[in-house]
Amino acid sequence: VPPEIRQMVEAHELIRKFYHHLLVNTKDGQHALEYLLGRGFTLESIEKFQIGYALNSWDFVYKFLTKRNFEPEVLEKSGLIIKRERDGTYFDRFRDRIMFPIFDQKGNTIAFSGRSLGADEPKYLNSPETAIFNKSKILYNFHLARPSIRKLQQLILFEGFADCIAADRAGVENGVATMGTSLTAEHVSLIRRNTDAVTICYDSDNAGIEAAYRASSLLVEAGAQVRVAMMPDGLDPDDYIKKYGEAKFTKEIIGASMTLMSFKLVYFRRGKDLQNEGDRLQYIEKVLKEISQLDKAVERDHYLRQIANEFSLSLEALQEEQKQIYFSNK
Ligand code: GTP
Ligand code: MN
Ligand code: MN
Ligand code: MN
Ligand code: MN
Repeated sequence: VPPEIRQMVEAHELIRKFYHHLLVNTKDGQHALEYLLGRGFTLESIEKFQIGYALNSWDFVYKFLTKRNFEPEVLEKSGLIIKRERDGTYFDRFRDRIMFPIFDQKGNTIAFSGRSLGADEPKYLNSPETAIFNKSKILYNFHLARPSIRKLQQLILFEGFADCIAADRAGVENGVATMGTSLTAEHVSLIRRNTDAVTICYDSDNAGIEAAYRASSLLVEAGAQVRVAMMPDGLDPDDYIKKYGEAKFTKEIIGASMTLMSFKLVYFRRGKDLQNEGDRLQYIEKVLKEISQLDKAVERDHYLRQIANEFSLSLEALQEEQKQIYFSNK
């Protein structure tokens, strides 16, 4: 390992421990701790995920690390401090934020995501891309979740850190999250090296549902078996657990996940008025196309019956229509 890379990781490790200490043991971190506890985070998960607090200071990290002989140039490259164009002095990137350390697969701290305590924008501030941190390759919590993912042969994909942490509290230890970006081919390949089965549990708002649809396509292309777990009323998993409790989450959300086809039936319906004949026909055609792509005849039959029932159509007519689509695609 080149010395500069080693130093960048060491700086992250040191400051991760100090951020955590500030949150858990100091008066300066008390309001941040209260914020987290108020949101339903427990001391146990604060410990497990090594959550911390960055002081409201322009140069605390700079001083803390340069005093310990880290070169400012290396610290700047690591993303922890930023150089002022004006006079070449440095300031801390993260100030007055809840700090979520990001670990690589070996458990080294390589980056942070800092959440603002109030309404300050941005809500989450991430480390920049560096020699040790590449967002499109990292899945939050992968290093802790990996044994469980391999054992269960199942991975749960979340949108946010808070969701991952709340789910862990509920006993769902095979959850990971992207870093506020969409799922990449690199993420998919990391997932596929560890399991065949993925349950997408993104926020049940518009953005989350759209992102779930895109993520499912990528995963299916890579040969994964995909299910989708959705919350009611636009909630995200963290909101849901806070509102309805941990047991209900594992049983009625994760335990009752939908097949990908059932999710698509919901997805294609959005924005359509199925009382309207034009919308209804469009919807049915779209769904028949999807059904044609299912491998198993029993599955095709199952969803055709469901559609026939829902729209009071003859099963024979739907089967006929679906076969035409099926053969025209061959
Ligand atoms: P909480 O409000 O703390 O519960 O966060 P959340 O995870 O519910 O946030 P949201 O659903 O809005 O966003 C999902 C994920 O997108 C977050 O976990 C972040 O990784 C990322 N994200 C959200 N807001 C920002 C932002 O302002 N900047 C960046 N870079 N990422 C963001
Ligand atoms: Mn501790
Ligand atoms: Mn969201
Ligand atoms: Mn959310
Ligand atoms: Mn949330």
